[in-house]
Amino acid sequence: MSDEIKRILDELRQDHKNMTLLLNMIEREANRIYEGGDSDFEVIQDVMHYMTVYPDAVHHPKEDRLYAELKAARPDLAAGFGRITRDHRNICENGLRLRDELDSASAGSFIRRKTLVGDALRYVNELRSHMQWEELDLFRRCDEMAAEGHVIIIDANLVSHGDPLFGERNHTEFNRLLKSIEQSLTASHT
Ligand SMILES: [Fe+2]
Ligand SMILES: [Fe+2]
Repeated sequence: MSDEIKRILDELRQDHKNMTLLLNMIEREANRIYEGGDSDFEVIQDVMHYMTVYPDAVHHPKEDRLYAELKAARPDLAAGFGRITRDHRNICENGLRLRDELDSASAGSFIRRKTLVGDALRYVNELRSHMQWEELDLFRRCDEMAAEGHVIIIDANLVSHGDPLFGERNHTEFNRLLKSIEQSLTASHT
């Protein structure tokens, strides 16, 4: 199977826009909870479920493959790549831990609200700063590689499953999150 690098980069950039929207929702909810508002953890729980089934399972592996291509084709553009694996691993581990904490809390286990809020906001900051690095630096290096003629990745194992939330065929398991997104977008326009 071969894939066009430009199309992959478009998908990755769109994923980042979607994740930015979701991180803003986590942040808003977490701050509301911290301030003692009548919010619950449902929105954060739903977002973290999505994070573990799409960004962790599809977006980051797709990037890993793209960066490996960049490193092989243009080693001169591969400085600082050790951080990528570390970042992806930390984001995944911290996301899973947060998701498990939220699931336990909703099943009745006692977990301090401030612990959950702190973990949620740390996750937001970590993923935001990672995405910013990619957009301002790594994706541009890939643009450069493509602009100079290296435009195709040939790889039978390239991960390219559709997005179950923002994709053309969204899955019913994310219906509640879709509603939260619509409400959040409506609220931000009023
Ligand atoms: Fe990444
Ligand atoms: Fe990314």
